Amino acid sequence: MTSATPKLPSLANDRFLRACLRLPTDATPVWLMRQAGRYLPEYRATRDKAGSFMGLATNPQAACEVTLQPLARYDLDAAILFSDILTVPDAMGLGLSFAAGEGPKFAHVVRDEAAVAKLAVPDMDKLRYVFDAVRTIRQALSDSNGVGRVPLIGFSGSPWTLACYMVEGGGSDDYRLVKTLMYQRPDLMHRILAINADAVALYLNTQIEAGAQAVMVFDSWGGVLADGAFQEFSLAYTKRVLSQLKKEHEGFRIPHIVFTKGGGLWIDQIADAGSDVVGLDWTVNLGQARAQVGDRVALQGNLDPNVLFAQPDQIKTEVIKTLDSFGVPGAGHGHIFNLGHGISQFTPPEHVSVLVDTVHAYSRQQRG
Ligand code: CP3
Repeated sequence: MTSATPKLPSLANDRFLRACLRLPTDATPVWLMRQAGRYLPEYRATRDKAGSFMGLATNPQAACEVTLQPLARYDLDAAILFSDILTVPDAMGLGLSFAAGEGPKFAHVVRDEAAVAKLAVPDMDKLRYVFDAVRTIRQALSDSNGVGRVPLIGFSGSPWTLACYMVEGGGSDDYRLVKTLMYQRPDLMHRILAINADAVALYLNTQIEAGAQAVMVFDSWGGVLADGAFQEFSLAYTKRVLSQLKKEHEGFRIPHIVFTKGGGLWIDQIADAGSDVVGLDWTVNLGQARAQVGDRVALQGNLDPNVLFAQPDQIKTEVIKTLDSFGVPGAGHGHIFNLGHGISQFTPPEHVSVLVDTVHAYSRQQRG
């Protein structure tokens, strides 16, 4: 059986999109989760000018500026929209704030029947600043002929990961409140997740219409669930999102990526959920994962972010180990190099160049 080669947008560098769609590449593409952020002094300067993280995220010009900062320093193969997964529950009226050094907080939590009854898919107008940022970034990435430098990735949290924050009211060490609701009132939990899934699908489709060239669902806390609960409360709703997403926009294929932190034991089921790419954390062996998924999906990952605290020679060694563990992508396989989770705010910025440059140089050499 032959399938038509998907149509890709005109880009100076389309390695990332090609790898997502399991097409051959000259070298392995690389980008980093949380590549725009606090480890960069220029990010901290722009955030201080904007006053706060949300001041930055809600100002399309400033969000564009910080999106491009890591691309100015490093030879990255993709840009990721600067925003946050928690913009969606904020638009649902939960009142998001970030107190300095304290992480996210919601003014209103969703822990009982009355709070669940009030939830609804938000009006996308409340998230207009996100779509404006997408348009602004796409413009900034384009040359005078409309050719983009690298593709722009849009993103959202998964229904389950968003529910964790909505029920807990912020970050959590034990997920006690969200799991209490899940076990005591599965009906309410399913209601929250169904609304989240439809909100996330609409949010991602609106990002695609604004110009996002790939989209990623962050299921950052899927891995805290028990086997069985993961399938029922996380994966089923990630599937509900994927089934609603636009696969093409203006004739171009839009790859979909799903990243479940701690999802290594469920790779087979995640690979069947309907995405083009599965993101993996550092607990997984890439070669084994590749054998498991076959030509169903491309893989993204999976260097331990703490490797970036070692010395440059050690970083090179670890990057090469990761590339060797995937091996040379053959026909029908794709690898996008990334970290296994977001980059730490304490990372020395100069260590990131070692990672990016080693990925390109070594993977080119691997291809012979
Ligand atoms: O990758 C990028 O460069 C794009 C921007 C991006 C941010 N958050 C910016 C941000 C992305 C993709 C996210 C996703 C996100 N946000 C996730 C999923 C990915 C993951 O790490 O698992 C989650 C769980 C969140 C929720 C969130 N946002 C938390 C827990 C925090 C505070 C602590 C922390 O980890 O940074 C945020 C704030 C946030 N989002 C910052 C940035 C750069 C730091 C805020 C600051 O500048 O003070």
